[in-house]
Amino acid sequence: MSAKAWGGAFDEKTDPRVEKFTESISFDSRLAAVDIRGSQAHARMLTQSGLLTADECRQIVETLDLIGQEISRGEMVWKTELEDIHMHIESALIARIGDVGRKLHTARSRNDQVSTDLKLYVRDSLAVLDGLLAELQQAFVDRCEIDVDVVLPGFTHLQRAQPVMANHYWLAYCEKFQRDRERLADCRKRVNVLPLGAAALAGTSLPIDRQETARLLGFDAVAANSLDVSSDRDFLAEAIFDLSLISVHLSGWAEEWILWCTTEFGFLKLPDAYTTGSSIMPQKRNPDVLELIRGKSARVIADVQQILTLLKGLPLAYNRDLQEDKLAFFDALDTVQACLELAPSIVRRARLQVETINARLEEGFLDATTLMEYLISKGVPMRSGHEVVGKLVRTCESRRIKLADLTLTELQQACDKIEADVADSLGVRNVVLRLSSFGSGGRDAVAERVAAWRQRLTGNG
Ligand code: ARG
Repeated sequence: MSAKAWGGAFDEKTDPRVEKFTESISFDSRLAAVDIRGSQAHARMLTQSGLLTADECRQIVETLDLIGQEISRGEMVWKTELEDIHMHIESALIARIGDVGRKLHTARSRNDQVSTDLKLYVRDSLAVLDGLLAELQQAFVDRCEIDVDVVLPGFTHLQRAQPVMANHYWLAYCEKFQRDRERLADCRKRVNVLPLGAAALAGTSLPIDRQETARLLGFDAVAANSLDVSSDRDFLAEAIFDLSLISVHLSGWAEEWILWCTTEFGFLKLPDAYTTGSSIMPQKRNPDVLELIRGKSARVIADVQQILTLLKGLPLAYNRDLQEDKLAFFDALDTVQACLELAPSIVRRARLQVETINARLEEGFLDATTLMEYLISKGVPMRSGHEVVGKLVRTCESRRIKLADLTLTELQQACDKIEADVADSLGVRNVVLRLSSFGSGGRDAVAERVAAWRQRLTGNG
């Protein structure tokens, strides 16, 4: 027997440089466990369809288990000439059980096999990512206990805008990561359609039962067009995009906290275990982990470009280009997973510098918009109220005072609708009592959302 699966029709040996160029075992060996799962289900289906005997099936399934154990112990020697994980496992099987092993690839090609492996792998990965995202959300929700009374300036254009409860910030990230989790769940629908049985590209003349394979592997449906199967990597492109959006969310958070750790902001102190010093400047504590979370998002974004560019010019059905799909996915997955594993500890252990925050909290006219809303509530048209408050802000700026420092008479000179109760709309602490719309950053609205999130996370598990 030739060492190559296609030896029958070939006269010349493959150039070793071609073997080195075309191998994928250096990166697809991580599909070993799912390849074995897929093969065992395939063997069981072949048996039910009368293509293998019960004894042959038992030999195949048991030997595949042994091969799986050998691989997990790191004992399998990867050989470039065996190309990929599928050939390694099949040839190990044949080496052990001979002709019975040579029957496993019945009604199957590596084209539908690799797609099935990938889908099983992606499906498992989606579950892991969902768990990591839930942990990160939990870390943000747990922070809400610590920061319950803290008010922070909210920014637009990175300029001080309106005050919000600190917890409003934490829950904003929970919302983003919730959408990420929903996207992963949605992606799973496309992942969970069985490719196996499409064979090379045309299906098979043998009497297979693809529904049974789907049932055995936990797929919800069977892919209905064999040409589409071997070219379809939509599920992978989606998964990589979903990963890229997670990393964009992580990057934005990292950037915000990097800023907050600067002397200029002074809002946040990171735990020592998650910062690094400088080899020359003794006073430095650098937010390197956050910077790398921000920096690594570039890789994941590039992975989206890679997979789309890989796919865009391919005719139906399988083309070898597709072998490169795994590189993009594994890189995106590993990168995001590494970030998600570190993020919760940083979220839990960073401390807001409440004194520094409070010392400057009344700067920047964070109450201007609420003062304008007070005027609206007294019947002043919005645009006129905007103008009145704008002028008051200018007056305060030139006198270097706050809106709350103006006397009632001064305020009434600016607008005769103003009454003594205006005091309740001035000053940051009052503003967060007044912000009350659903989803707002005000005290009560945020407290309600904290409770809702806590319940949601315990419900979700
Ligand atoms: N290693 C290959 C890949 O990842 C497996 C499929 C090979 N199929 C083929 N017809 N050469 O795409």
